[in-house]
Amino acid sequence: MASLTSSGAWLLILSLGEIVVGSQNISSRIGEPLVLNCKGAPRKPPQQLEWKLNTRRTEAWKVLSPEGDPWESVARVLPNGSLLLPAVGIQDEGTFRCRATNRHGKEIKSNYRLRVYQIPGKPEIVEPASELIAGIPNKVGTCLSEGGYPAGTLSWHLDGKSLVPDGKGVSVREETRRHPDTGLFTIQSELTVTPVPGGPLNPTFSCSLSLGPRSSGQRTLHTAPIQLSVWEPEPLEEVRLVVEPEGGAVAPGGAITLTCEAPAQPPPQIHWLKDGSPLAIAPRSVLFLPEVGVQDQGIYSCVATDQSHGSRESPGVSVSIIETGENGQEEGSVGGPRLGLLALVLGVLGGLVTAVLLVGILLWKRQHRLRKEERKVPECPEEEEERAELHQSEEQETAESNAGGP
Ligand SMILES: *[C@@H]1O[C@H](CO)[C@@H](O)[C@H](O)[C@H]1NC(C)=O
Ligand SMILES: *[C@@H]1O[C@H](CO)[C@@H](O)[C@H](O)[C@H]1NC(C)=O
Repeated sequence: MASLTSSGAWLLILSLGEIVVGSQNISSRIGEPLVLNCKGAPRKPPQQLEWKLNTRRTEAWKVLSPEGDPWESVARVLPNGSLLLPAVGIQDEGTFRCRATNRHGKEIKSNYRLRVYQIPGKPEIVEPASELIAGIPNKVGTCLSEGGYPAGTLSWHLDGKSLVPDGKGVSVREETRRHPDTGLFTIQSELTVTPVPGGPLNPTFSCSLSLGPRSSGQRTLHTAPIQLSVWEPEPLEEVRLVVEPEGGAVAPGGAITLTCEAPAQPPPQIHWLKDGSPLAIAPRSVLFLPEVGVQDQGIYSCVATDQSHGSRESPGVSVSIIETGENGQEEGSVGGPRLGLLALVLGVLGGLVTAVLLVGILLWKRQHRLRKEERKVPECPEEEEERAELHQSEEQETAESNAGGP
């Protein structure tokens, strides 16, 4: 039941041979029970013995005896004189002493130094790189170990060989945190390397955690290895900005695609400028303007930035809206010109109707005047008859045309 490891003991026998003091380094796993034997004590009462402990829980020496009460759930003296700690915690690290008188009346002292440990979960490489670029510093990944005590140490390996940080080609950034409640450690180590141009193309990285001498058995935990490809950088030569449709002019509401071509390895970051001012958008190599309005008009350019070669700007490209005036008739596919055409047709129709009405009114007025004259001076009845016939037929015609109207 007790995971009791003695990493060494020394015995000191004093000149008279009456007092025997043994000291032992003990390490115990957190959360497990621990039994410390009181050397020389009779297995059964009556016993003359006393336990004294000085740990992080105690302010000074805490004394426990077989007759006394147990110390809460922390520790108690068993009937055979041994001391039981039901669940060891970080707070129990310290010194435990027992003084007992054996059957022959000789006083025997036991002395233990207790250290505790916890084995963390298997370390892992989080946020691993997908590839590395030769000649520049690259983050390989972060090795993470959680829940250990004591913290332990992380180390990196390249193709099975230990990687020693030299601050140039290999550098490591370490961080140690402690859980506020459990007191267990989280440690992480971020590896940055600068692969040599012409070096290995597929290096394998791994990380290991050394637990130190306290934990018996397994002393080192290894991550799964990661294999990466190394790229030789291609310098950023020229940045081109391609506009689609060509010329960058569309009717209002049309779409424009601007593509920034900046061939380089690693791919550079692309930012956009409009009339010389940066556009507040995330870096991207394609800028799509879905519905071009007046506010989108201007000179666009893109800026490619790469780690090793700095920034380069493309030549500017103009985005504009095609005017829909008299010479914009051919752009009949959009709303504006279509409306213009409709207005034109309506205008012509309206003109025609007005003209017809005017002519109609003029004719009517003339007839009216003629009739009046006829009534006043009926000189010649033949003429009148003729006129009446004429009038009748005209009336008929008007009625017919009215009936056939809309
Ligand atoms: C016990 O541990 C202490 C401190 O870690 C060390 O100085 C001492 O040598 C150890 N004793 C034995 C017997 O291993
Ligand atoms: C005393 O009893 C405990 C629990 O039964 C046992 O683990 C321990 O070894 C005993 N001590 C001795 C000295 O026999």
